[in-house]
Amino acid sequence: MRVNDPISSSHHRHLVPEGAALSHGGRLRAAAMAVGRPLSDWLDLSTGIHPIGWPVPPVPPSCWQRLPEEEDGLEAAARDYYGCPTLLPVAGSQAAIQALPRLRECSRVALLAPGYGEHAAAWRGGGHQVRSIDALHRPAAVTQALERALDAVEVLVLIQPNNPTGLRCPPEQLLAWHQRLADRGGWLIVDEAFMDATPEQSLAQQSARPGLIVLRSLGKFFGLAGARVGFVLAEPALLARMRALLGPWTLSTPARWLAEQALRDRVWQQETRAGLSAAGARLAALLSRYHLPPSGGCGLFAWVRTERAPLLWQQLARQGILTRLFVEPPSLRFGLPGDEAAWQRLEYALSGCVLGAGD
Ligand SMILES: Cc1ncc(COP(=O)(O)O)c(C=O)c1O
Repeated sequence: MRVNDPISSSHHRHLVPEGAALSHGGRLRAAAMAVGRPLSDWLDLSTGIHPIGWPVPPVPPSCWQRLPEEEDGLEAAARDYYGCPTLLPVAGSQAAIQALPRLRECSRVALLAPGYGEHAAAWRGGGHQVRSIDALHRPAAVTQALERALDAVEVLVLIQPNNPTGLRCPPEQLLAWHQRLADRGGWLIVDEAFMDATPEQSLAQQSARPGLIVLRSLGKFFGLAGARVGFVLAEPALLARMRALLGPWTLSTPARWLAEQALRDRVWQQETRAGLSAAGARLAALLSRYHLPPSGGCGLFAWVRTERAPLLWQQLARQGILTRLFVEPPSLRFGLPGDEAAWQRLEYALSGCVLGAGD
């Protein structure tokens, strides 16, 4: 499957550093250079990162001087927030995605495509056998395909909600699949990077069950992608192996300090949840008005399938709006505009794009 963007797939290929395996949203500097528009003149909608994010206060100077300490309260704050007994902080959930394949002997792994491509890359890179299951069918058909694949794999990786399609499987279904895998020493890995707006659908509270591994991120809902903070929620034995693999001090002291404050800020979390569901609905309505009804998404992004995705990507980029282009299937992902001016700028840009019903 090709999931790519024009920055790496066209004449701008030279902007991609040697060895860069996968393209992602958020490469605003590369886009600015490629299109020749100053960085400050862009609206970046290419990620699912909350555009406002948790308001970071000044970091106490001692944070820069002291080594990270496990007794600083971060783990306790995270256990309270996720409602789970055991977890391990990691430098972004990406760190866990890359480490997990190294904690198993060669296995057969199923995952959905399209999905966040780093999972498949990590398992393939670790010498495992990866089978992609088409996530583009109706949810019931995807569930059936997963059901059929389950007995032929040891590991199932699911992103809940899926990025970019937004597909979610009911928690009871996931737990039933987990049980089948765990009975023969297998794993269910649930990447809940985009789950914070809907905690009632999370498997965090069940994550101490052997063979169930839940990944969480502070990069999306909290908007702290640059701090590189994530968590692995799993049984203690697996966490101990991952801790040994990753070594000490995976998170910087400033990152630990601000993550603890963000996880304890219940008022901000509640307000943000309410705001996100309104903003997500507004984005879907706006796109629909311009004949781009989303095929999926979650509160933090909308995913639009259209044959004209590459053209539309260019038209928007020419107006300084960066979206995330997927080549196969042709589609665009739109993150949330962060303020009224950004909403209006997106609307104005869409109104200038050549679009028609049925695109
Ligand atoms: C589904 C999903 N999981 C995990 C990640 C990694 O996020 P982080 O390493 O910032 O926690 C991303 C990043 O885009 C993602 O989309």
